[in-house]
Amino acid sequence: LQDVIHFLKKCRYVTGGFGGGPHQYPHLAPTYAAVLSLCLIESDEALEAIDMLGIKSFLWSIREANGAFRMHVDGEIDVRGAYCAITVARLSGIAPDDKLFEGTADWIATCQTYEGGFGGAPNLEAHGGYSFCASAALALLGSSSTVNLKSLLRWSVNRQMKYEGGFQGRTNKLVDGCYSFWGGALVQITQMLIEKESCKDGYTINIDELLFNREALQEYVLICCQKPNGGLIDKPGKPEDLYHTCYTLSGLSIAQNFSSTKQPIIIGTTNNEVLATHPLYNISPKAVMKAYLYSQENSPNRDQKTNAQDEQNEPIIDD
Ligand code: FPP
Ligand code: ZN
Repeated sequence: LQDVIHFLKKCRYVTGGFGGGPHQYPHLAPTYAAVLSLCLIESDEALEAIDMLGIKSFLWSIREANGAFRMHVDGEIDVRGAYCAITVARLSGIAPDDKLFEGTADWIATCQTYEGGFGGAPNLEAHGGYSFCASAALALLGSSSTVNLKSLLRWSVNRQMKYEGGFQGRTNKLVDGCYSFWGGALVQITQMLIEKESCKDGYTINIDELLFNREALQEYVLICCQKPNGGLIDKPGKPEDLYHTCYTLSGLSIAQNFSSTKQPIIIGTTNNEVLATHPLYNISPKAVMKAYLYSQENSPNRDQKTNAQDEQNEPIIDD
């Protein structure tokens, strides 16, 4: 873990954000991956390596006037950008009502399609990956009133395939193990958003069941997505890779652990049990809490320098 922290520090760009490797320009995808990885380590040393001020200035450099985010300076704009931006911001102690996110929820709402799901940008096809990004971003922003949650829920639950038990990413396409997380978490988040909006409106909808078939999804991951020699996959016949290994197991976790107050549902033996994951961040809920507390106690406004600008390249935010 020391080596991971050391390497990720080298990937910090001098003006803020993380590049894909040392000395590379900053990009939102590696910034998202690096911040989550450091949070996952759950140590003060790892959290110190997140340059909160630098992250903020990087996010300003890729923000559009309408609240959308590019993946890098002059890069593409999509809902993934908004999701990665709000995620790293929240974990770095930037409040959801910061000026940085003015207009973001409304821009995300313009990506909802006639089907109910979200496309990557306005007027694009509804897709499970982008719908996850949109719904998680709205939940983190605490603002979903301009979205049609009923049509989002109908579209989301219909992505679970009747025969395979896994999820597809788009209407009329094939099942794929990675949507076990994007699709499964999407259903859970949409339920959360519906409950929250109902409270605001003065009546309370309480949905205490996860609205997809939790056993069938576990069967798809455990029976169809495991390679005998290790690693997990999209569907039988495909090669294993880290992306599908991560997201099939994350989807398995969503299917097993719906609520901290309820017993998990595990199919087969207890050997199949995996730890709970946070549906908005996809790291452990404990790691999220630790990062929230740490970033609040070490507010970025204490100094105007960025960590990476510091002479020794050592974090300036210390106790
Ligand atoms: C379609 O691929 C897939 C995409 C266009 C991207 C989907 C977006 C995500 C998975 C979200 C990523 C977000 C983060 C934070 C990393 P395809 O046409 O090969 O697949 P399909 O046939 O299943 O639609
Ligand atoms: Zn996939």
